[in-house]
Amino acid sequence: MMKHLSPAIVLFSGLLAATTAAVAATSTTAAASTALASAAAATLATPAPSGPKVSLTLHTATNGPVISRHIFGQFAEHLGRGIYEGIWVGPDSPIPNTRGIRNDVVGALKALHVPNVRWPGGCFADEYHWRKGIGPANHRPATINANWGGVTEPNTFGTHEFMDFLDQIGAQAYLSVNVGSGTVEEGADWLEYLTAGPPDTLGAERAANGHPAPYPIAFVGIGNESWGCGGTMTPDYYLSQLKIYSHFVRSYDPAHPFKRIAVGADGGSSDYIETVMKAWQTHVWSWDIDGISLHYYTVGKWPPSYNATGFGENDYAAILKETHRLDGIIGSQEAIMDRYDPQKKIALAVDEWGTWFTPTPGTHPGFLEQQNSERDAVSAALGLDTFVRHAGRVRMANIAQMINVLQAMIFTQGDKMILTPTYHVFRMYVPFQDATSVPVSLDAGEYVHGDIRLPRVDAIAAKDANGKLWIAVTNIDAARPATIEIATEGKGMKAARGDTLAAPHLDSVNTFDAPHTVEPKPITARAENGKLVLHVAPASVTVVGLE
Ligand code: AHR
Repeated sequence: MMKHLSPAIVLFSGLLAATTAAVAATSTTAAASTALASAAAATLATPAPSGPKVSLTLHTATNGPVISRHIFGQFAEHLGRGIYEGIWVGPDSPIPNTRGIRNDVVGALKALHVPNVRWPGGCFADEYHWRKGIGPANHRPATINANWGGVTEPNTFGTHEFMDFLDQIGAQAYLSVNVGSGTVEEGADWLEYLTAGPPDTLGAERAANGHPAPYPIAFVGIGNESWGCGGTMTPDYYLSQLKIYSHFVRSYDPAHPFKRIAVGADGGSSDYIETVMKAWQTHVWSWDIDGISLHYYTVGKWPPSYNATGFGENDYAAILKETHRLDGIIGSQEAIMDRYDPQKKIALAVDEWGTWFTPTPGTHPGFLEQQNSERDAVSAALGLDTFVRHAGRVRMANIAQMINVLQAMIFTQGDKMILTPTYHVFRMYVPFQDATSVPVSLDAGEYVHGDIRLPRVDAIAAKDANGKLWIAVTNIDAARPATIEIATEGKGMKAARGDTLAAPHLDSVNTFDAPHTVEPKPITARAENGKLVLHVAPASVTVVGLE
């Protein structure tokens, strides 16, 4: 997303934003309280027992594509407090931890069934040299995180610590190889170190560093934003790099071949994806890919200028309109891919997506910390629904980012941890992981605010491995509840049960002082005249399983 900006400009623009916002508040908590008290904050209508009707039909006789669990992937970059404090506190910390990795965060992430984590960046990956992050902790060199605030990178969280973290949360590895300032040899050595067994010398070094068995690596990204912070490469130059890296960066563990993800589009751009896919169509045995990336941030204009809290309905509607653009952008990337790969062998990996707002006042602007409101929850649900509608092609996505950065799942403050509204959406959507999508038709109606017009209700459905049907319904209308009448092809359903996430205000957030303001509540739908009737609140996300 940093197509037009160098990190230095990000830092500068962040400083400007921070300065402007500093008049309002000076800490996360204070900012949140200010937002709640703000006269500008739109008040949500009290959920009424019923609202305008939406008829929704589940076409259960038709099986859509499988929803890859990997669209619920996460992104953890060495950026601000994402890794250090967010995940890693070190084995000597008073914060309860297992081999340096905080237990509260691991517990919370386990509930999300995180399928994969992209690491170590981001722009950070374009300058990451893996050898600095292995071996005894007191021998690791300190470096400077030039992209994100110029702070010291101690390299205490390196390859082994990342793999341990994945093991603790039960996720697979998505490594981003340094194609920017790195070399092919360095990238090839990293994967050899990770995946080779003895007598290979790098495999033996890994064993000496505490892990005799090869590590299973699921995905390898060949570069990151090579059109921007990854080296400002032309599409043709990147393609020649891609061919070399894809050949020489190998898995030495036949039991665990990894998938290779190429750099693709920034938002709606098409030059990278066109160049890579065209070459792939006639590729020879010596190079290959399994996926190509798309980065799309819900940001509005660049640099980020929308605030994460203290907004009214104007900004609510504007941000949701931006999230809606994702559907068209994916559609245009798909159209290009379909020309060269009609069988959909290559996946579209939306490996950076999410909201990007002005930094929380009082925080380091290079740390990209922002609060997370009910609007983020609605935006996350719309994004996930979009991936599900394109599940035949979109088989991976990584929300940016996991902890304390951008649209985070979790915030930490010293030994405290809270869950964000976005976390709750990811938790509620767990039943959709690897489920088979079921087509939905609905007369969504319209949500109109000023000149913004969007479908009022969004919905997806899927059948899990046990044949149970699940529906997710998002009512984006800021003021009106909705009454969803659910009909199915075939036999009727008796009841539905699940969770709904609504909030007192559009900009309601969870804070360390009030961590439960935005939390899911149980919801049931009852059968009426052969249909299930579900009453949902304004600006809410609901997931129910049908019985
Ligand atoms: O997620 C923050 C940054 O956004 C990533 O480092 C970079 O890849 C993108 O521009």
